[in-house]
This record gives sequence, structure tokens and C-alpha cells, in this order.
Amino acid sequence: MRNITIFDTTLRDGEQSPGASMNLAEKLEVAQALVDLKVDVIEAGFPIASPGDFEAVQAVAKMVRGAQVCGLARCNPKDIDRAWEALQGAENPRIHVFLATSAIHREFKLKMGKEEIISRAVEGVTRAKGYCSNIEFSPEDAARTEIDFLCEVVEAAITAGATTVNIPDTVGYAMPAQFGQVIRTLRERVPNIDDAVISVHCHNDLGMAVANSLAAVENGAGQVECTINGIGERAGNCSLEEIVMALRTRSDYFDANTRIHTPRLVPISRLVSGITGMEVQRNKAIVGRNAFAHESGIHQDGMLKEPTTYEIMRPEEVGFTKTDLVLGKHSGRAALADRAKELGFHLEGDQLNDVFDAFKKLADKKKEVYDADIVALIEKRTTSG
Ligand code: KIV
Ligand code: ZN
Repeated sequence: MRNITIFDTTLRDGEQSPGASMNLAEKLEVAQALVDLKVDVIEAGFPIASPGDFEAVQAVAKMVRGAQVCGLARCNPKDIDRAWEALQGAENPRIHVFLATSAIHREFKLKMGKEEIISRAVEGVTRAKGYCSNIEFSPEDAARTEIDFLCEVVEAAITAGATTVNIPDTVGYAMPAQFGQVIRTLRERVPNIDDAVISVHCHNDLGMAVANSLAAVENGAGQVECTINGIGERAGNCSLEEIVMALRTRSDYFDANTRIHTPRLVPISRLVSGITGMEVQRNKAIVGRNAFAHESGIHQDGMLKEPTTYEIMRPEEVGFTKTDLVLGKHSGRAALADRAKELGFHLEGDQLNDVFDAFKKLADKKKEVYDADIVALIEKRTTSG
């Protein structure tokens, strides 16, 4: 079974999410939670971006033990030198250099030809390699880059010393089968590809970030870049909790897994949501409030008989305490009797029927019937007779 490296970029790409900025103390709290989650790499920030970002990378680098700490840099000497300066205290530092390669970025943003891109990429990786052995190179907008040119750039970056080559779908444009094919082609055509780990970094503009990352893993990617709750630029990045649980739950299919300590997923999701103010939608996979909640009578009855009827993961695996059988108008007698039992009442026969009728009338008027409502219904019926 392959181990997939989890590279978390909540503190860098996640923080680029409009409205998600964090102060130094908050970044350190998130960094410690990422260590407890056992992520392999923490991208702590973009040191040249601002004095605050530099300070944050420096502080995270000094504090974190047990995970690699990474700083981002464009392919120019100033950025790379600043990133290295910020990473000084790190136990296991990584410099991540990036340069756009797609025709659109070459023509409109960088105004550079293909040759210049290759020489800039090589210069950047070489400079970073002079500082540290662990170097990641990203051809930004790789998913929209001509495949022959992408192969050339990747080969040159590896020859210059990149130990990880990251393939970003910067604007979330790729489709899973197509993105998987990009990874397969790199493995087939780049002669030195085995000298580096292939990583992917997918954005979620079309809601494909997790699917594209999984397609890449199926085709040989060994690292996935992601963020807690999927926060990030625009529609966000690949969500860490989703990719991790997809690999864990379907490790039979992928023949791959991660080292993530999954019971920490819900606590870190709540921490990041609380700090950034970016709420997690109720039906969000894995960490949403409804992810392990069941309301329909048929589902609740199945769950009470055998949880695997309607759950493919156990709530405890991701950090919830238990399955939530929500009592509402779709619920059945079995769930009501079960909740009554939890609350200390034994209901059966006519008494159960009677309370159930009253419960259904109340449930038609309310979205959710709470424990206090159930107790009131039962007490009214058991004490009045
Ligand atoms: O989306 C992107 O291309 C990036 C790079 C810096 C890796 O965030
Ligand atoms: Zn990104």
C-alpha cells in the first residue's frame, strides 16, 4: 500500500481566501493542530509577501517538530533568499518555488517565452538547492500548459534538483480523467521523473478539486496539497478531510492511504472555522453537522439494526462522538423508542403509539424535535392517565 504525503497549505493558500486572514497566535495554534493531525508538510506562508507573513513562517518553523515546514517563493533570488531566512529554525525545511508555464500566463502575466521560463525555473531551483536539499517546484497553471512544454519544464526542474514537482490546477479547470492523464503522461515521458515525488495542487472552481486529486493519485501522484475545510483562493482548494477520508475509506480501491490521525479532523475543522469566521456548511462531507445525521425513519431503523446499512465511515473515526439520529417528521417509531430509552423511559405498545402520534403532530410544526420536547410529550402521557 502506498503512503500519500499530505501537504497542508491552510496557512498559505487557505489564508489567501478572502476574509480568512489569521494573526500570528492563530497561525501558531493552527500549526500545532496540524502537527497533532500528523500532516507531513505544513506550508506556513509566503515570506516575501509581507513582514507579517515572514514572521509567521519564522515562528512556525521554530515551533514545529515532526512535520516539514515549507515557505513559498517566486522564481527569483529575493523571494528565495527571504524564504530561506524565514525557515532558519525549522527541523526539516522545504523551499517551494513556483513559476507560471501556461501560454496565457507566459503571454499576459510574465511576458516571457518558453526558453526563458525554463532557464528561470532552473535558476530558481538551483538557487534554492544551494540552501536546502528539500525543494519543491510548481509550474503554476500546469493544467492549462501544453503537455510537451510541461514535460520539458518538469524534466529541467528535476535535473536542477527539485525533489518534489507539484502540478497545480491553479484555476480549477481540469476534469478528473484528463488530469489523471496529465500525471500518467509525465510519468511516461519525463525520463528522470522517478527522481522526484509528483504532487498535485487542485483548486475547486468547478467543484472538482478532490476528484482531480484522487484521479492524480490513481495515476501515480505521491503527494496531495490541500487545506482544512477546503478554504483557499476563490472557491478554495482540495479539502484535506475529504481527500484523507476518501483514501482511507477506499484504500481497497486506491491501494494507498495517509498517516493522518483522523479523529483530529472535526476538532481542527472547528478550530479553523472559528478562527477564520468561515462557516462549514451543514452538509459538508466528513465534518459538516449533518455528515453523520439521519432523519428518515427507514434510515434510522437501518442504523439501529446495523450502522453499516447507511454509514460508510464511523463518526468516531473523524472526531464526532456518535451518529446523530435527528428526530423530525420523517422519523419512525423505532428511533423514537430508542431516544426515549436514552432519556430514561421505556415505551411500548399503546403508550408508544400514543406518544408517537403526538410526536408526529409536533414534528409537522417544528423542523427538529429536541430531547426536552420528547420528555414533555412522554411525561404528559404517562402522568395524566
Ligand atoms: O494554485 C497555485 O498554482 C498555487 C501555486 C503557488 C502552487 O497556489
Ligand atoms: Zn493554489
